[in-house]
Amino acid sequence: VAALCIVILCVVLSSSVCVWKKCLKKKDKDKEKILLACALSLCVCVGVCVCVQPLKGSANKETNLSDKETKEEETLGRLHFTLDYNFTDNTLVVGILQAAELPAMDVGGSSDPYVKLYLLPDKKKKFETKIHKKTLEPSFNETFTFKVPYTELGGKTLVMTVYDFDRFSKHDAIGVVRIPMSSLDFSQSLQEWRNLQKAEKEESERLGDICLSLRYVPTAGKLTVVILEAKNLKKMDVGGLSDPYVKLHLMQNGKRLKKKKTTIKKNTLNPYYNESFSFEVPYEQIEKVQVGVTVLDYDKIGKNDAIGKVLLGCNSTGTEQQHWADMLANPRRPIAQWHSLQPEDEINAQISNKK
Ligand SMILES: *[C@@H]1O[C@H](CO)[C@@H](O)[C@H](O)[C@H]1NC(C)=O
Ligand SMILES: *[C@@H]1O[C@H](CO)[C@@H](O)[C@H](O)[C@H]1NC(C)=O
Ligand SMILES: *[C@@H]1O[C@H](CO)[C@@H](O)[C@H](O)[C@H]1NC(C)=O
Ligand SMILES: *[C@@H]1O[C@H](CO)[C@@H](O)[C@H](O)[C@H]1NC(C)=O
Ligand SMILES: *[C@@H]1O[C@H](CO)[C@@H](O)[C@H](O)[C@H]1NC(C)=O
Repeated sequence: VAALCIVILCVVLSSSVCVWKKCLKKKDKDKEKILLACALSLCVCVGVCVCVQPLKGSANKETNLSDKETKEEETLGRLHFTLDYNFTDNTLVVGILQAAELPAMDVGGSSDPYVKLYLLPDKKKKFETKIHKKTLEPSFNETFTFKVPYTELGGKTLVMTVYDFDRFSKHDAIGVVRIPMSSLDFSQSLQEWRNLQKAEKEESERLGDICLSLRYVPTAGKLTVVILEAKNLKKMDVGGLSDPYVKLHLMQNGKRLKKKKTTIKKNTLNPYYNESFSFEVPYEQIEKVQVGVTVLDYDKIGKNDAIGKVLLGCNSTGTEQQHWADMLANPRRPIAQWHSLQPEDEINAQISNKK
């Protein structure tokens, strides 16, 4: 619009100048000069306009874009928190202070926010703040402690997600702040505001796959599990590879009856075991037991981290149940199959549900 105005203004100006000069009734000789001058000024005007228009257009676009970007950041809101490492306790102390400028997620133009926090990659301990009803500026003022040896802290990422509580449907994630612990200096305590980022759908993380064979001999009442190999195991330390080993539990009604484990394979994410384990399971029991198979990262200093787990048995689901059924349908024959590892806490939740 501005460019158009300039064009019109130029045309009007130059033509009026022409007309005015003509009206002066100069000699014919000068008329040519005047006409030339008029044409020239017109050309200059048009040229300027043509140049100005795209410039203006791109400037508009840019402001549009940056407007949008800042808007998107702003609409997710901000989180105020503190971080401390207690060297006597070996604990990471996270203070969730408050959130501000949260977007309204409910129809009523408000939200019921709360914060969930955990450390990646293990997610063993998840904390939640209280739910604050109908506010976009909640003051949480709660502290949470994670027990983590300082040597392991560098490999962890603190994830703080702000959710909108909704009793009748899935809780919506408003936004998330992720902080790699390796990026921090714990010599002093830290207090910060951070913009919430768009929360991705918590895609099921790839934890790795395990290959094992199952064999059952009904007459002898012997169940044999061979742990063959694992591949693409999730890295548990940022620094290097893992030292994986596999733990087996024979279980009934959520109770552990027997425990066995493989050797530790050093420095690999694709360990090969080919190790065999037998359990005595009478025929009338075989449909009542389960085998939990957990892959762990051996750790000399801290606690061994579970990388992932599968649960095999009559009542398990999907490929695990299929494997068990195939074993029963083929007595005395070892049946090998690959399984995708699941998060340990999810499997444990399934087990305790069955209890
Ligand atoms: C600029 O924003 C307006 C409204 O916000 C939109 O209609 C228009 O398409 C945007 N232009 C560009 C180039 O993004
Ligand atoms: C660390 O924790 C201990 C025990 O909870 C407490 O006495 C101490 O004051 C804490 N240290 C710091 C620096 O907060
Ligand atoms: C936060 O909690 C502390 C201790 O519980 C209290 O002293 C402080 O006043 C609280 N701050 C706010 C803003 O509620
Ligand atoms: C696995 O171990 C069994 C018995 O220990 C052995 O007979 C077999 O050859 C091994 N398989 C491979 C592929 O190493
Ligand atoms: C599987 O389910 C059946 C029936 O619900 C039950 O009797 C059996 O104990 C369950 N087995 C296991 C291993 O949970």
